[in-house]
Amino acid sequence: MVKLGPNELCWCGSGTKYKKCHQHADLVAGLRGEPGLAAASAAKPALITNPRPVRPHPTTPRRTVPPHIQRPDYALTGKPQGPRSKTLVKSHEQIERMRLACSAVRTVLERAKAAIRPGITTDEIDAITHQAYIDLGGYPSTLNYHGYPKSLCTSVNEVICHGIPDLRPLEDGDIVNLDVTIFLNGVHGDMSETVLVGDVDQESRELVQVTHECLMLGIKTVRPGSPIRDIGKAIQVHAEARGYSVVRAFVGHGIGEQFHMDPQVPHYYDANARGECLPGMTFTIEPMINLGNWGHVTWDDGWTAVTADRRRSAQFEHTILVTERGVEILTAP
Ligand code: MF3
Ligand code: CO
Ligand code: CO
Repeated sequence: MVKLGPNELCWCGSGTKYKKCHQHADLVAGLRGEPGLAAASAAKPALITNPRPVRPHPTTPRRTVPPHIQRPDYALTGKPQGPRSKTLVKSHEQIERMRLACSAVRTVLERAKAAIRPGITTDEIDAITHQAYIDLGGYPSTLNYHGYPKSLCTSVNEVICHGIPDLRPLEDGDIVNLDVTIFLNGVHGDMSETVLVGDVDQESRELVQVTHECLMLGIKTVRPGSPIRDIGKAIQVHAEARGYSVVRAFVGHGIGEQFHMDPQVPHYYDANARGECLPGMTFTIEPMINLGNWGHVTWDDGWTAVTADRRRSAQFEHTILVTERGVEILTAP
């Protein structure tokens, strides 16, 4: 069992104090004689058997954005300004802008995917997407977001998310998640897909396939009045039935004029996750599914999250809109 003081950071990776996060849930689980979520993660030291883990490589200098492109408030300082918006339901006018941003981000992703082959570096993919955002009149939302240095996230093999594009060439047999985000007409669009590089082993191909199914099953639960926690429940059931685990430390998020806003959307069943879907809400669902355990560690770069056991992880992400009748995938092809 993980033993944490109330003022220590929670084991889940949320960055909040344990007492404000999972302490209560762990206590209840203990009373019921259940192991609780924490027991499954950091409790046992991860057994690492991966003979060829992904290593950090050098990165290129920061890319520039022409002055005529409209920037988000954090572009210069790295810090999003002002409080997180409390309004979860967007206006028709905001939704129209979201549609455009989300369709643009889909275009950028398709350009990146077309370039994937063994030998290309993730930095070259960064250059391609960087130019694509600018061609479309948009700003790469990740660039300088809390200081993030690049224009997309490239998460290879055991990297769960937030991998920084660098000079590592993709290898035959890799899987790589391309997470692209654009700021266009004052709103953000966010989506990602995991793609296969060359000839990929069957275990990884199945992981990628099932992760996509998890995303689509999560989306299927969404309609006016549906509990947000049903999304994670559907995802967790599907993933765990195949022996995979669901990453808990990173969640889906509301999106609009701010990159990350309420609601939070866990991809596992979190009974404490309150809230229901209301028409006009826009948020992402972006499950990260692991072959092994769901625990993670972060590289010294402060961003790259890799599985603690170094087994592979896959992810897919859509930005969706809750409609009167159900759901619309704004980043659909
Ligand atoms: N695109 C990621 C998401 O889905 C966020 C990346 S933020 C960064 O939420 F700073 F890491 F780039
Ligand atoms: Co994303
Ligand atoms: Co996202």
